[in-house]
Amino acid sequence: MFIFVQNNSDMAGNSYGTLFRITTFGESHGEALGGIIDGCPAGIQIDLDAIQKEMQRRKPGQSTIVTQRKEEDEVQFLSGIFEGKTTGTPIGFIIPNTNQKSDDYSHIKDTYRPSHADYVYEKKYGIRDYRGGGRSSARETASRVVAGAIAKQVISEIKINAFVSSVGEIFIDKPYQDLDFSLTETNAVRCPDLASAEKMEAYIKEIKKQGDTVGGTITCVIQNVPIGLGEPVFDKLHAELGKAMLSINAVHGFEYGSGFCGARMKGSEHNDLYNEDGTTKSNLSGGIQGGISNGMDIYFRVAFKPVATLIQKQEVLTNQNTIIEQQGKGRHDPCVVPRAVPIVEAMAAIVLADFYLINKINKSNY
Ligand SMILES: Cc1cc2nc3c(=O)[nH]c(=O)nc-3n(C[C@H](O)[C@H](O)[C@H](O)COP(=O)(O)O)c2cc1C
Repeated sequence: MFIFVQNNSDMAGNSYGTLFRITTFGESHGEALGGIIDGCPAGIQIDLDAIQKEMQRRKPGQSTIVTQRKEEDEVQFLSGIFEGKTTGTPIGFIIPNTNQKSDDYSHIKDTYRPSHADYVYEKKYGIRDYRGGGRSSARETASRVVAGAIAKQVISEIKINAFVSSVGEIFIDKPYQDLDFSLTETNAVRCPDLASAEKMEAYIKEIKKQGDTVGGTITCVIQNVPIGLGEPVFDKLHAELGKAMLSINAVHGFEYGSGFCGARMKGSEHNDLYNEDGTTKSNLSGGIQGGISNGMDIYFRVAFKPVATLIQKQEVLTNQNTIIEQQGKGRHDPCVVPRAVPIVEAMAAIVLADFYLINKINKSNY
């Protein structure tokens, strides 16, 4: 195997977006996480409670089926908001870390957990903050949720609803049109189909008892989208949504509209025939054609793997190139999808706010 060891290289790629642009910083067990949002238009009334509400949906320790790390995840804004409105200047914020238990991670100082980021971070940078996974920890996504909550307020007409659609082999057996999204927040799993939610919760509890983890999917539905968002050819709307979703920790798959099922269909079954007003009778395109929103619902699915840290013995690699058995420790999510719902919504909102602003500028250039 060829290993291109590039010790001490810089970490790039901490920013996302063209006009509405978020840069995040921070590690799981550092002083704080945070971010800077650049390009948010001036004069937007910001609902701080709505931002904190989104943070409550993502925070650890919110139920018995997620990691038991206790963080309030209170956002402190440092700039860019004055008298409740955005000023058009960079919005800086921090989210202090208060409940680090770094000793829980001393056992992985010299070892690399299989399928985590430990090995590649150390090989690439020559140094690794192993406490809680450092920068590779999904605590980083707290900053995305802040940016997403602000993005939602920039595009307040657009409605974004994500929900857990499967956990392991248990999945919702109905189209999203038959679901009541107001039920998503009524259960710990964040599944609007209550019969499935009950089974999913019981299964996650069982998996947790075994010290194991399980994967799942999140479906996201975006409604009331204007026609015209997306910039062909390289910045197609679905390409950016895909990138945004695949940038979330533990995501292994993205499909929109008919997705991989479409590959099994005939064109005569798959084409979305028009109504006279330009809407379509079906929507297997998932609201995007040629990389541009067509005004129909956008919907996509995101697949999350079963995360790497098991609270049971497994083989790990040491930094002396030996394989040993190690017992997992610390506080971990047995299944990440319940907490990832607000993260998916946040990244979707950031993508749409960015394209909304790009579209506005393009229009004013004509
Ligand atoms: C909300 C959320 C919580 C997570 N919690 C854990 C965890 O407790 N333990 C763990 O090993 N990985 C967890 N992960 C996944 C890791 O951050 C991720 O697997 C790791 O950074 C390696 O990246 P990759 O899986 O994308 O390759 C979580 C991911 C998300 C989205």
